[in-house]
Amino acid sequence: MDFKDKVVYQIYTKSFRDSNGDGLGDLRGVIEKLDYLRDLGVNYLWLTPFYKSPLNDNGYDIADYLSVDPAFGTMEDVEELIAEAEKRGLGLMFDMVFNHTSTEHAWFRQALAGEKKYQDYYIFREGGLDAPPTNWESKFGGSAWEYVPELGKWYLHLYDRTQADLNWDNPEVRGELKDVLRFWKAKGVKGFRFDVVNLISKPAVFEDDHQGDGRRFYTDGPHIHEYLKEMVADADIGDMVTVGEMSSTSLDNCVRYTNPAEKELSMTFSFHHLKVDYKDGNKWELQPPDLGRLKDLLTTWQLEMQRAGGWNAVFWCNHDQPRAVSRFGDDGKYWKQSAKMLATCVHLLRGTPYVYQGEELGMTNAGHASIEQYRDVESLNYYRIMLEAGKTEAEALEVLRQRSRDNGRTPMQWDGSPNAGFTDGTPWILPPENYQTINAEAELRDPDSILQYYKRLVQLRKEEPVIAAGQIEFLFRDVPEVFSYRRFLGTQDLFVVNNLTGHEVTLGDVPWAGCEKVLGNYADASKVLRPYEAAVYKACR
Ligand code: GLC
Repeated sequence: MDFKDKVVYQIYTKSFRDSNGDGLGDLRGVIEKLDYLRDLGVNYLWLTPFYKSPLNDNGYDIADYLSVDPAFGTMEDVEELIAEAEKRGLGLMFDMVFNHTSTEHAWFRQALAGEKKYQDYYIFREGGLDAPPTNWESKFGGSAWEYVPELGKWYLHLYDRTQADLNWDNPEVRGELKDVLRFWKAKGVKGFRFDVVNLISKPAVFEDDHQGDGRRFYTDGPHIHEYLKEMVADADIGDMVTVGEMSSTSLDNCVRYTNPAEKELSMTFSFHHLKVDYKDGNKWELQPPDLGRLKDLLTTWQLEMQRAGGWNAVFWCNHDQPRAVSRFGDDGKYWKQSAKMLATCVHLLRGTPYVYQGEELGMTNAGHASIEQYRDVESLNYYRIMLEAGKTEAEALEVLRQRSRDNGRTPMQWDGSPNAGFTDGTPWILPPENYQTINAEAELRDPDSILQYYKRLVQLRKEEPVIAAGQIEFLFRDVPEVFSYRRFLGTQDLFVVNNLTGHEVTLGDVPWAGCEKVLGNYADASKVLRPYEAAVYKACR
């Protein structure tokens, strides 16, 4: 399976397109928009979960892996979507949430009813009401353990308390999950995205963490590589495109996850570069992005994955992140320039680029100003935690305006009609007010739009093999404002230069002097790099 010359587009199903007016995006909505996606030139569509779910975490709390939640459609819709996508040369990647299930899943219900077999599917521990087995914290805030009085036991949930962690040390659990993969593969799916998959292998002994929240005990855990190899081999998915979402992972582990000799995954998402605006590593404390650090992290990961034969998924945005243009660019004066610059930065790196719905339009953070407008369980939990810790309501809201996952979950902005053309009903979450100017319809008409620029970038990958197959080296490493690199393959050279800032930067002698400019976000040529300027030069040796 070749994934190096491909581009993946992520669809957050709930916010993409509502076909039946109930305010929630659905599978038929995706079918309606397939021509738009084909015209963008992408190859794969990763769909976030649409399986049966109480939707406490928008579908990442799965109650049945093999059926479709009526809110999103039917199994016939899934089949039609796969077939219609295939007609347009698009492959589907489905999201597999295998670290945990919803507490509504039949397995968990049977566990609660006292069935020993199903209690072994999860991580239950004995303990009194006042003594959770460890002091580990949930990633959504509070304890990672929930007490079940009827059983006199606690169960582990690294996320919401309605998302119970599965026990991967139980071979029956591993067997069930392989069946899930076989089921979807047989439907014609071309790939999988594995949710927080590096958290599945828990330690043999559970102990308190006196240095952190517990993550060092279960992140890239003791049997992780063994379990991934077994899953890939037994479910026979080694020929499919697979991406693992790796929470707080390490570079060494990502090399192992993705080096083809290991027969684990095609590529990994890692997030270190998306924490450079966390003050002291805390997501809920604001600081401006540290651009030098951002550049260093991207550089180190690129070079090390190249040296050791690993492969990165390269991206800025997904449904858990604020919008990149608001975060690392400028969503006011230099909106268009900075969105195009950010796209240039990642698309030409060594790795498979991911475009998150609306990123190709330069969609911005929502900026919702009242707590009533937020929906995300993590945001609502941390809002309360921030107030309890002494922040004022205004301060806590400002943090959410910049950090909430809801910033990336507002409706796709299709056109300037009410609710951005997402729904004829009442949207489950409001779009930002700017949809009248930032929308697909307007950008399809404008030859200079961000959308057209993404199309060119996607096209360039098809025209220039150096992008998918070439080596990378970094240039101007000591200039923190500039992210620049050279891609090379045989006699082919491509130079990429990006000004990460809103002011002019002068570089002096540049190795691309006299070369042909093949792409850029300023029409004319200039010796100085203008605010957020991006340029791509084809070499001439
Ligand atoms: C991943 C998903 C996120 C979800 C979490 C728990 O990080 O991307 O949306 O809340 O896993 O499943």
